Amino acid sequence: MQAIETIELTKKFGNLVAVDKLSFEVEKGEIFGILGPNGAGKTTTIRLLACLLSPSSGSANVGGFDIVKDSMKVREIVGIQTENPSLYERLTAYENLDFFAEAYGILDSQERRKRIRDLLDFFGLWVFKDKKVGAFSRGMKQKLSIARAIVHDPDIIFLDEPTSGLDPESAREIKDLMKSFSRKGKTIVFSTHVLGDAEKLCNRVMIISKGKRVALGALEELLTNTSKPILRITLKKLDQRVIDAIKCFKQVKEVTVADSSSVVSIVLDDVETITPEIIKSVVLNGGLILSVNVVNQSLEDVYLKIVRGGKVEN
Ligand SMILES: Nc1ncnc2c1ncn2[C@@H]1O[C@H](COP(=O)(O)OP(=O)(O)OP(=O)(O)O)[C@@H](O)[C@H]1O
Ligand SMILES: [Mg+2]
Repeated sequence: MQAIETIELTKKFGNLVAVDKLSFEVEKGEIFGILGPNGAGKTTTIRLLACLLSPSSGSANVGGFDIVKDSMKVREIVGIQTENPSLYERLTAYENLDFFAEAYGILDSQERRKRIRDLLDFFGLWVFKDKKVGAFSRGMKQKLSIARAIVHDPDIIFLDEPTSGLDPESAREIKDLMKSFSRKGKTIVFSTHVLGDAEKLCNRVMIISKGKRVALGALEELLTNTSKPILRITLKKLDQRVIDAIKCFKQVKEVTVADSSSVVSIVLDDVETITPEIIKSVVLNGGLILSVNVVNQSLEDVYLKIVRGGKVEN
């Protein structure tokens, strides 16, 4: 079952098209990652789906409700943590969560207290429950704003760069929390610049650039379809003659030398046929080889290629 479906969703700010005819679907229980450079439209997309913004054109269905016609319903079943934490700085951590929990319809004060205690405990913020949020550090605000997003136990959770600004231990806790939500059947859509997080967490990712979708699919799929093998040769000493000789092969797509190292990375279409020839040529040109490895391009390589290419699918 689909938790989210968008059809040509578009948001314009004046002349700027921040989200440009974006169509995609998210399955129930899925952890779906949105990647893309600064200004690509990730936050705007998330804000549209959580009904914090209304679209200029196109449509979207979230949890069975239309984001324009049934925006009140959508707001009830989603939780959102976004870039600028929407917290009241003059209220304490406890008062903030209490306010939002009540606004989300949890009217029983005992029930609210239990949820808030559990959440603040989980995030290590219970000891700061009576501290005004204005005096919180960035990471503490970030955690509180995630707690705020889930205080009413929503079915669909939007997290906008949830681990940004968090220490490694807290970031790990958030990632574990995301996984446990997904196991409970909750749907999570999150944006991130941390490709490793996307790799660890997501069933599928969508890469957007200038508001447009440039890639969508399971990570392994993106990697196998886009990534090429790399032949990595470590030399005793870097020698331009050797590099020039490698570049002469027409099967060699790209040669890079990592800064201040003697490791040469060669992107190839087919490693098997050409590797022995390249090694022979390195030796003939005086290169002293310490090691040879074949590795696959990383998600970072693939991401950069897709984003720099800017090619829109279909
Ligand atoms: N309220 C607004 N008014 C005018 N322009 C806006 C507004 N919100 C976003 N934009 C513009 O829309 C584009 C997309 O912004 P958005 O914040 O969605 O990008 P993003 O992918 O989240 O970027 P980042 O990775 O930096 O968070 C940008 O060019 C931004 O300047
Ligand atoms: Mg953003």
